[in-house]
Amino acid sequence: MITVSIPGTGSKSASSTAPAHVTKWDTQVSMLRCVECHAPLQYKSAEALGCTSCSHTYAIKNQVLHVTEKFEGNNAIAADYYNGSLWPKFRFWEWIAHMPRGGERKARNEVLRHLPSLSGTKLLDVAMGDGRNMPQIPLDCQVWGVDISRVLLEKTKRDFPQHDTTLVVGEAEQLPFPDATFDNMFSLGALNHVNDPGRALKEMARVVKPGGMVVVADEIPDLPNRQIAHKLGLRKLQRWILAKMFFLGPMSDVILENTDLKIEPLVADALVDWKIHSIWGNLGYVIAGKPKK
Ligand SMILES: C[S@@+](CC[C@H](N)C(=O)[O-])C[C@H]1O[C@@H](n2cnc3c(N)ncnc32)[C@H](O)[C@@H]1O
Ligand SMILES: [Zn+2]
Repeated sequence: MITVSIPGTGSKSASSTAPAHVTKWDTQVSMLRCVECHAPLQYKSAEALGCTSCSHTYAIKNQVLHVTEKFEGNNAIAADYYNGSLWPKFRFWEWIAHMPRGGERKARNEVLRHLPSLSGTKLLDVAMGDGRNMPQIPLDCQVWGVDISRVLLEKTKRDFPQHDTTLVVGEAEQLPFPDATFDNMFSLGALNHVNDPGRALKEMARVVKPGGMVVVADEIPDLPNRQIAHKLGLRKLQRWILAKMFFLGPMSDVILENTDLKIEPLVADALVDWKIHSIWGNLGYVIAGKPKK
């Protein structure tokens, strides 16, 4: 059997019939910048990239680059939650919620339809999770995914071997890319609950080329206020229902903390030519606009 060395796999050699999805970090490194000092990164080995200016090194584990190793605040709670066993159980409720609107694919399309044709383009998916949007993305689109969950990104890599994906554990608030790197970006299901939604939205806009699309969707922040327990003032019961029945665990506190979030001022600060559309039967929103330069 012929063997070839494949950078970024963590192994010294692999079969020449290696799957198409193996990330070539020695070429992909040119798309990255240091999150500490913003200098370009360089390829050091199959296990690490390094900063060309400061001494920072970034590990590659199971084909996924790690630019943030330790999270704080809500991002730390979310990282534990999405790396853990409760999140796959919550998907059941998501499935139930999408059912009356024609299923998951249609619900995702209410967001993705705001992106232009993606063939042959560079696309960034912020908070990519386990890549549930990938089936709606063409195989000839170069997709970069950022998420705080190592477990979910590794699952994306396994589940979508035919797609061209480059995956990074990091935060929406501190993206490891130079300005104007991507043709377009999107993010589905994270903005309301990141540590700093305003900073995250500005970062998403920063890394998109002028004229490219920034598409960001989530549930309406005050969705939990529609629960009967909330209307009856039974806050402890409401929290219990979210944590236990909906399998949100400690994320229920993060969700309840952010019900007052106002999206519009954040959008006005980051984007031009923007509009906020109502989606998912008025239970969600999608921001579609262009980066402010
Ligand atoms: C509700 S899931 C949505 C996943 C995926 N976008 C989808 O459509 O199925 C939220 C995702 O946001 C990620 N996330 C939460 N906070 C984040 C942050 N500050 N930066 C990047 N990703 C974050 C979580 O790890 C999780 O994968
Ligand atoms: Zn640096």
